[in-house]
Amino acid sequence: MGNIPKIKISPNIDKIFILTGENIFKKKSTKLLIKSSFFRKDIKIYKKKNFLPDILELNKIVKEIKSYKPDLLVAIGGGGVIDYLKIANSVIHLTNIKDIFFLKKNRFKKYKKLIVIPTTAGSGAEVTPGVVLYKNKIKYNFTDKNLIPDKFYLFPELIMGTKRELKSSALFDSFSQSIESLISFKSNKISQKNSLFSIRIILNNYKVFLDKNNYEVTKKMQIAANYSGKSISLTSTGAPHALSYYLSSNFGLYHGNSVIAYLPIVLEYNIRNINILDKTKKKKFSYRLRILRKVFSVKSNLQIVKKIKSMIKYSKINIKLKKKFLDEKKQKKSIKIERLKNNPVPIDYRQVKLFNKNLFL
Ligand SMILES: [Fe+2]
Repeated sequence: MGNIPKIKISPNIDKIFILTGENIFKKKSTKLLIKSSFFRKDIKIYKKKNFLPDILELNKIVKEIKSYKPDLLVAIGGGGVIDYLKIANSVIHLTNIKDIFFLKKNRFKKYKKLIVIPTTAGSGAEVTPGVVLYKNKIKYNFTDKNLIPDKFYLFPELIMGTKRELKSSALFDSFSQSIESLISFKSNKISQKNSLFSIRIILNNYKVFLDKNNYEVTKKMQIAANYSGKSISLTSTGAPHALSYYLSSNFGLYHGNSVIAYLPIVLEYNIRNINILDKTKKKKFSYRLRILRKVFSVKSNLQIVKKIKSMIKYSKINIKLKKKFLDEKKQKKSIKIERLKNNPVPIDYRQVKLFNKNLFL
């Protein structure tokens, strides 16, 4: 077991706005962290209520920050909490928060320093310039360098003891992010290195991470998540992410579990259709698959898919969805076809319908 998590706050800082989640706030380790780090400081704690970060709650958070006027902002939570505060801290100057959907220039300006303490070994949101926000259950992506947090701390203590379903979501999120980034044509030597580093850690540690509360393994998984965040900062995410949001907002699945539902299906589609790519793209994709096979220690591309499926099985998450609840109109609306373009082999909605056949039974 580690020590009591603590962060150092400069003596010039008096007022701190803390954003956290209902469940994470109940944890003893979170309370200890807050007590030991913000001793003798004026703090205001806001607990996020929505399952998915949306514009209405963001508006409330922004109002709280404006009236409190903190010197520093701290996010202690999962991807949703982190995203909320990343974006809230960058829209204080706007008179109407809904302007973020219309403005192009100076949409984001950093208000105060933002410290992020992730409580899942998942999203890597502590290093990315991206934020996900929902409006009427439709997902919007924002990317801006002003959204990158100023500092982050990784404390395994805050993650240990999390329920299996959430641990799975976290590990599958980083795992898929790293794979999506790696196979993207936008990936370069650096992002590929970051992806491979995180994939290797996850493959070697996911079983212990899920089954036990091991301090060292949890720490490794946090680092893997952090590197997956670094890799998607360079490439953005790919098709499994683009398709996943429909499941998160309509089937109540955790983010990473929605993403992993699509990963093997999308990967297999890419592998089976490699020959439709032009010569240059085929060469690029073959190289990416080769390094992926190496890190997976398998001989064929389809064995990568097989291994991912066995990881899903091992996690025991339920991603079998009922066909009768599938609303294809709604699904189509939720997908940003533009985002699918990060996938090596082009995907249109007809293809998405074919993917559905494997997912909705
Ligand atoms: Fe993600």
